[in-house]
Amino acid sequence: MTLPKIELQETYRSQAQMFANKVKKRFKHLRKRFAEQNIDVFRLYDWDIPEIRAAVDWYAGHLVIAEYKRKQSTPEWLPMMGAAVAEALNVPAENVHLKERFMGAQEGNRYERLDYTDQKIVVSERDFLFYVNLWDYVDTGLFSDHRNTRKLVREQSEGGDFLNLYCYTGSFSCYAAKGGARTTVSVDRSETALRWARENMNLNGIDEAANTLIQADTFDFLKNAKREHRTFDLAVVDPPSFSTSREKTYAFDVSADHPSLLSAVISVMNAGATIFFSTNHQNFELHLDRLEITDAKEITAVTIPEDYVSKKKTIHRCWNITV
Ligand SMILES: C[S@@+](CC[C@H](N)C(=O)[O-])C[C@H]1O[C@@H](n2cnc3c(N)ncnc32)[C@H](O)[C@@H]1O
Repeated sequence: MTLPKIELQETYRSQAQMFANKVKKRFKHLRKRFAEQNIDVFRLYDWDIPEIRAAVDWYAGHLVIAEYKRKQSTPEWLPMMGAAVAEALNVPAENVHLKERFMGAQEGNRYERLDYTDQKIVVSERDFLFYVNLWDYVDTGLFSDHRNTRKLVREQSEGGDFLNLYCYTGSFSCYAAKGGARTTVSVDRSETALRWARENMNLNGIDEAANTLIQADTFDFLKNAKREHRTFDLAVVDPPSFSTSREKTYAFDVSADHPSLLSAVISVMNAGATIFFSTNHQNFELHLDRLEITDAKEITAVTIPEDYVSKKKTIHRCWNITV
C-alpha cells in the first residue's frame, strides 16, 4: 500500500478521530431503542460531516462502512476510517466490511459481485428474520431504510393479492404474507435475488404455494399479467434508478420511464388498489399527469426511519398511489 503524503496522513488521522467519535455517539443513542424493537440493522452515519463521505451501517455486531467515491479518493482513506470506527465500537476486524459506492449512472456497478464467499448471517427486523450477505456485494440483501414502508405493507395486505416488483430478496413480500395477504407475487430478473427471497420466506415460515416468485423483466411480467387478466390489490414498485437489459437492448431511467412503468402497473391493479412507489433517485420529479389514478400522496416523511433522517440527502422518496 502506498502511503499518502505526510500532510494527507495527518488530515486522515484527524478525520478518523472525528468520524469515530461521531459514530460512537450515535451508536450509544440508537442501540437501545432499536434493541427494544428487535431491530438488528440500522444506520449510524451518512455523510454527516462534509469531508467524511461515508455511510456506516450496523448489522448485528458487524459494521458495513461505505465510501462515496469521487475522483480524489485514495485507497488509504477508507481502511483508516474503518479501523477507527471499529476500535471505537469494539468490533473485531473480521466483522468490518468496507465498500465503495458510486453515484449517478455509475451506481449500476453496485449489482456486481465483489467476492464469492456465499456467506450469510441472519438478522432480525421486528418479528422477521432475514439473511444478509455482508461480503459479496455492495448491497447486503436488506434495505433497512424501507423498514417503515414494510410495516405499512403488512398493515394493508390482509386478504388481498400483493405484487412486489423489483422484489430483490423479498422482504416486502414476507411482510405482506405475514400481514395476511391471500397471495403474493414477487418479480425480479435476478435468479440470485429470487433464490435469496425464497430462503427469506422459508426462514419466516411463509408457505411456498401462495407466495410465488417469478424471474422476469418487470415490463414483460406486466404485459403477460395483463394478457392473463391477473389483478392485484396492493403493490410495491421500487425500481433501481438506472438499469440496462441483459442484452443491452433497452435502458431504464426512473426519471424518464416511471410514467410508463406506473401506467403498466395500474393496468393490473383493481379499482381502489394501493401502489407504494419508491425511488432512491436524488433529483426526482414525479409525473402522474396521464395516469388513471384517484389519488397520490407523498409519504416520505412517514417511510423514512429516524436513523435515516439526514440533512444531506433523502435516502428514498415514497408515494402512496390510489388507483
Ligand atoms: C433497488 S433493488 C429493489 C429493492 C427491493 N424493492 C427491496 O426493498 O429490497 C433493485 C432490484 O431490481 C432488480 N431489477 C433491475 N432491473 C430489473 C428489471 N428490468 N426487471 C426486473 N427486476 C429488475 C434487480 O435484480 C434488483 O434485485
